[in-house]
Amino acid sequence: MEQLLQQIEAYKKEVNDYQANNADAVEAFRIKYLGTKGLVKTVMGEMKNVPNERKKEFGQILNEFKLFVETKFQSLTESNAQLSTSDSELIDWSLPGDTVAVGTRHPLSIVRNQIVSIFKRLGFAVAEGPEIEDDWHNFGAMNLPEDHPARDMQDTFYINQNPAWLLRTHTSSVQARVMEKQKPPIRVICPGRVYRNETISARAHCFFHQVEGLYIDENVSFADLKQTLYFFVQEMFGKDTKVRFRPSYFPFTEPSAEMDISCLICGGDGCNVCKHTGWVEILGSGMVHPKVLENFGIDSNKYTGFAFGMGVERICQLKYRVNDLRLYSQNDVRFLKQFTGAL
Ligand code: DAH
Repeated sequence: MEQLLQQIEAYKKEVNDYQANNADAVEAFRIKYLGTKGLVKTVMGEMKNVPNERKKEFGQILNEFKLFVETKFQSLTESNAQLSTSDSELIDWSLPGDTVAVGTRHPLSIVRNQIVSIFKRLGFAVAEGPEIEDDWHNFGAMNLPEDHPARDMQDTFYINQNPAWLLRTHTSSVQARVMEKQKPPIRVICPGRVYRNETISARAHCFFHQVEGLYIDENVSFADLKQTLYFFVQEMFGKDTKVRFRPSYFPFTEPSAEMDISCLICGGDGCNVCKHTGWVEILGSGMVHPKVLENFGIDSNKYTGFAFGMGVERICQLKYRVNDLRLYSQNDVRFLKQFTGAL
């Protein structure tokens, strides 16, 4: 019997020292001591082994033990409840909430959207095509001769040689896709990503973005081309921006011209960006080559058209003075969060 007494004392000490600072620990206490298989039950079970003459004495001791455990359980429950209220009292509800960082559009998306919206106002619709192209849509249909250097492995990423599957090198391939499906009048703008096998540097990248334009109808003239692109420049860069056209060569247009705008950085006085000429080239253009029209069964005696293609990165460089092409794809938030344009 003395052993039982000692054991009860030991349990009392254990109970007394029990710490619980969360609801799970309180519950663990209840299960261990007061549960159906708990220690209090087990100790109570010992009553049957107590000799009759000591039953009264032990009855009292065991009842006290039970009460002791129950009191401890109650105090653990209460202090735990208090603990959680005092926790919430620590919160200052008047403090401003956590700021949620709002994303910004990528500068190239902002500029692409601006370009597209200007042409939409002139009645152009948006057309898109695949980035993985065949030789016909990227080169053949656009009148690029078999031996044209652009077809070289050095410039073009080929996915497959025969038949040729490649990553489109320009959005002019979308012109082909549109003419294949649509009859004139055609008035489309085609934004998209293009790929070229270039060593990556500040001034060159293996992928970049273009916006292509195509307008085919009866009586479309070079004057229409000039006026359309002049309107675009005024809207994009402001009324003071001057333009000039220089004769050029593209296999898919005849005649062809490149368009320069007066340098926005130095206002035409001469700087690094314009290489001290006061002018920067922003696009290629021309009257759609009759062969290209005929490739799609469009009667080149009845219909004429103009086309143009511009680099989005170039326009973005001039608008936002970004001088390293790599910045566009490095995803450095310090760069990206500077563009808060809403478009
Ligand atoms: N495809 C040409 C390039 O990638 C750009 C271009 C020039 C597109 C003249 C045209 C155009 O539609 O008429 O450099």
